[in-house]
Amino acid sequence: MEEYLEFAISIAKYAGSKIREGFSNELDFNYKSDKTVVTEIDKDINHYLIQKVMDKYPEHAVIGEEESYKTDSNYVWVCDPIDGTGMFTARVPVSVFSLAFVVNGEVQVGVVYDPYLDNMYTAIKGKGAYCNGGKIHANNLHLGDLGYRLNYEMWDKAKYDTMTIAKDLLSNVKVSSIGSVARACMAVASGYFSCDLFPGVAHGNCDIAASSLIVEEAGGRVTDFNGFTQRYDEDINGAIISNGISHDEILEYVRKKV
Ligand code: IPD
Ligand code: CA
Repeated sequence: MEEYLEFAISIAKYAGSKIREGFSNELDFNYKSDKTVVTEIDKDINHYLIQKVMDKYPEHAVIGEEESYKTDSNYVWVCDPIDGTGMFTARVPVSVFSLAFVVNGEVQVGVVYDPYLDNMYTAIKGKGAYCNGGKIHANNLHLGDLGYRLNYEMWDKAKYDTMTIAKDLLSNVKVSSIGSVARACMAVASGYFSCDLFPGVAHGNCDIAASSLIVEEAGGRVTDFNGFTQRYDEDINGAIISNGISHDEILEYVRKKV
């Protein structure tokens, strides 16, 4: 798997240079049919990945948020070229690049790159989670402990109402919504946040495939909104991303609302 990790890191570095360049220049963007914004840089990074996979691993597939390549393989690269495009166009530096190598639905390699802080988060299944080569760990806070911070993502027509769940939890936790689910997941993996509620379904795997492995390898836990593990080479059923120790406590709140 080391070879796949190196490959993913090389794509992340390309993505990072494009994101940094775009951040300080004029951006070419338009709106998709779901009213979310996409820039030419999202498309460029996604296309670059496909070209590189076709060159190096032509038998593998790519599922990208903006473009995919032959989706009938058990070996799939799942990518969000820019997670948090809205914040990117608003010039708030929280967006990240995300790429997972998924075999038979299970994430084996995950890379999330924060181009603003030059933080490369990586994991290979069973081998721990790292940021720039240093091990990272989720925290040990329970719901209600001082310092427990939860991130939620929400939008119009989302299948799960994370906003109401977060409101129910407000007396117990500090709540944020930072605008990039993958970036928030890295805060969970690093022990700064304790939980993240993500209502994504269609293409939701692109947003969190890589993060799911990095968080789990950091000692956290990731399930769908019913508490089950899920495949990441297809649409998902939302995601609860936690430090592990508080996962069941959060799940109890979620169950009251779904
Ligand atoms: C989005 C971000 C955002 C979340 C959306 C995602 P995108 O990613 O993660 O925080 O609320 O659900 O789709 O669309 O910018 O890649
Ligand atoms: Ca995106």
